[in-house]
Amino acid sequence: MQFSKDFIQKVLNATDIVELVSEHGVALKQTGINFKGLCPFHSEKTPSFNVNSQRGFFHCFGCKASGDSIKFLMQIDRLSFTETVEELAKRAGIPLEKNSAQTRRQSSEEEGGLRCLREAASFYRENLSGPVGKIAQKYLHQRQVSENMSERFQLGISPDSWDETLKSLKQKNIPQQIIARAGLIKSGEKTGNFYDTFRGRLMFPIKDVRGRCIGFGARAVKPDDKPKYLNSPETSYYHKSRTLYGLFEGLEDIRKKRRLIFVEGYLDVIRLHEHGFTETVAPCGTALTPEHLKIVSRYADTAILLFDGDTAGKNAALRHAHLLLPQSMESYILNLPEGEDPDTFLLIHGKEGFEQLLERKVPALDYLVQQTINKFPDSIQGRMQGLEELLPTLNQIKDPKRQQLTLTTIAERMKIPAEILSRELKRKTNKNLRTEQENVMLHRLPKKTTISQDEQWLLQSLLRNGQLWPRVREHLKPEEFKTPHFHRLYARLLQLPDEAFQAFDPLKLEESDPELFQSVMMLLEEEIPIHDFGLSLKRIKERNLEIEYQQSLLHSQNNEDRAKAGAKRRNEEEKLKSLKQFFQ
Ligand code: UTP
Ligand code: MN
Repeated sequence: MQFSKDFIQKVLNATDIVELVSEHGVALKQTGINFKGLCPFHSEKTPSFNVNSQRGFFHCFGCKASGDSIKFLMQIDRLSFTETVEELAKRAGIPLEKNSAQTRRQSSEEEGGLRCLREAASFYRENLSGPVGKIAQKYLHQRQVSENMSERFQLGISPDSWDETLKSLKQKNIPQQIIARAGLIKSGEKTGNFYDTFRGRLMFPIKDVRGRCIGFGARAVKPDDKPKYLNSPETSYYHKSRTLYGLFEGLEDIRKKRRLIFVEGYLDVIRLHEHGFTETVAPCGTALTPEHLKIVSRYADTAILLFDGDTAGKNAALRHAHLLLPQSMESYILNLPEGEDPDTFLLIHGKEGFEQLLERKVPALDYLVQQTINKFPDSIQGRMQGLEELLPTLNQIKDPKRQQLTLTTIAERMKIPAEILSRELKRKTNKNLRTEQENVMLHRLPKKTTISQDEQWLLQSLLRNGQLWPRVREHLKPEEFKTPHFHRLYARLLQLPDEAFQAFDPLKLEESDPELFQSVMMLLEEEIPIHDFGLSLKRIKERNLEIEYQQSLLHSQNNEDRAKAGAKRRNEEEKLKSLKQFFQ
């Protein structure tokens, strides 16, 4: 960890989690001390996403996502821990601390690289309107890229020279080493001299979700310039498997539309944005990864993948259908007419034509099954071969209900009895013991009628006020809880180290004891009426005395036994009275 605990705490304290969550498109409604809304991490129709502003955490009872402001921002914007803390600190106006030398080196390296790329982007952009930019302007005109889009995507041109970029960046006091590491210059094998990587190319700045330029795609504009595209290298801040071109520019609309269109190229993205399909993104010169899909599933419920209509495009579509199926997003495949890409299609058929085309999208599952069937001969053997290809993908669907539904669909389409398919799948997976365990999960609260209200209030008070712990810990044994669920919960809490109670932080439990964590969250989520903590404790003790007394009476054989039971009870009552302080 690179920041001190104090610093992180300071940042957390300065962050209003309700504000943060709201800023990320979640409409929150106050219900008592909590706020509720639709979970941004999974799709749902009734709100199960809770935000507790006092304690500064969120918890979703649907998908079990939970954590503090840092975790929220990390997940929603896919930032690293360090980036998140930095972002929150910036938001709260807290200057970053510089503690260890290593942190300083690492963050300054990153800072340096990002500054270098920012300067390069504006250098390329400036050049576009200067004399150097003529060729690129002409090219943009020819490709029918509007001024608007050129501005939105901050397009630029790298001068067609060996060292203009290098010189310009050096002038801005950026060390050569940093420019090289950002991939903007290279050294000649023989001479060792540095020269510009991108020369005379149309520059597409690639941005992270925060809008920082983290790399470039660079397209040749002269016909004999090869290759067509050059791409920036991966760095500590540019991970291609996580970066999508157009995501920053479209993020707001994507969140609103809850939909994404995936295309292959930079210019396809720009063309679609231009025609109002601002929810379009593309990977940056790499294949689409499950990571990409996971990232965007935070913002959207539906994904449409566009592919060329030729054989290569169809093969790619089938590969991607396998990739899409295990994802929670509703996903579709769309093949374009042969010989066209989204860019050319829109130029010819316009917005309406494209909208009509979108209606022909095929659910990824249907596409997958149909193409798999087509691939093999229409015989039992052929179908079994197809099945072999589908099973691993089917196996990757985590949600059992969705897996079952998918299985039924596949069975139907492939004309294979569902039982056979199911058996095949089990043979492949061999892990069907789970549900039993899930039934005895600690976090399943018993029904209201069977729980002791006082016990529940007591635990809730304890969880909200860690200072009560030492006293309670000393005077209350687990068996004094008569609700089995609370008995178990309390026993588990007692196993935690003493320090844990000083400032009781349920989030710390999340990793070490997820089950206990869920139970605690359940208790914390619920409203508790204003009540006297001591009184609850006293009532529990008195109730237990009564139970004990009644039981002794039940088992007593003679008067002597009964007298003993009565005496014991009086004795205990006296003891309770001496504990008065403890109840206050
Ligand atoms: P395409 O060859 O389909 O090009 O590559 P395109 O996007 O239609 O580009 P235009 O319309 O001819 O300008 C699709 C994507 O593959 C990557 C780029 O990300 C490109 O947008 N690519 C392609 C490369 O990284 N390098 C290449 O040499 C070619
Ligand atoms: Mn193209």
